[in-house]
Amino acid sequence: MSTVMYIKASPMGELSYSTAVADAFVKAYVESHPDDEIKKLDVFARRLPAVDFETASAKYKIMHGREHSESERRIWGEVVSLIDEFKSADKYVIATPMWNFSIPYRLKQYIDIIVQPGHTFTVTADGNYEGLVQGRPVFVAYARGGEYPAGSAGEAFDLQKRYLELVLGFMGFTDIRSVVIEPTLAGGADTAKQKREAAVAKAAQMAESF
Ligand SMILES: Cc1cc2nc3c(=O)[nH]c(=O)nc-3n(C[C@H](O)[C@H](O)[C@H](O)COP(=O)(O)O)c2cc1C
Repeated sequence: MSTVMYIKASPMGELSYSTAVADAFVKAYVESHPDDEIKKLDVFARRLPAVDFETASAKYKIMHGREHSESERRIWGEVVSLIDEFKSADKYVIATPMWNFSIPYRLKQYIDIIVQPGHTFTVTADGNYEGLVQGRPVFVAYARGGEYPAGSAGEAFDLQKRYLELVLGFMGFTDIRSVVIEPTLAGGADTAKQKREAAVAKAAQMAESF
């Protein structure tokens, strides 16, 4: 039995395109893998510690081999428990909107919490970075209001897919599968509906071999 962690990064609920595509993926996955467990994490609903002075100090103190204060110990406990929850999965599904050409701040906050040396990456003896979350597939549903096709002038503005795939790769992911749904706004309601139907069908098909 495998555990699938489903991370949602849109606050739009039923109206969210990225969630609709990832939901279709998860629904089809459950049909073809009935014994597997799906664990959901909504980054807008979950309490996440702020990455502020105390959290950053706790991180640097570990790097410099210094003792944590009482409150740093408590905050770092929250950080490590979120990392352990993340690392406990065998497979991952992520639904994310494009916000200002990148990902929503709550997903970035979650990434700033879980990407930690000694937990999700390490530095090898020869000074290279090595991801510690290896051998696990991830499916990402990306939604954008506009269009950023490969080879177009708009492609350079797509820091959503590029950034997320870079940071997933940094943590060790090599099997990154995705469906992009675009444009959800710029082409009008009919286009958005057609794109949604096509993306949902494609995601459901991709889930069977995940
Ligand atoms: C704060 C905010 C910023 C956005 N920035 C962009 C953007 O930079 N480029 C774009 O194409 N669409 C942008 N959009 C539109 C969303 O990408 C689009 O509505 C998408 O469908 C959101 O995903 P969702 O439906 O899963 O919530 C933005 C929307 C919001 C709310």
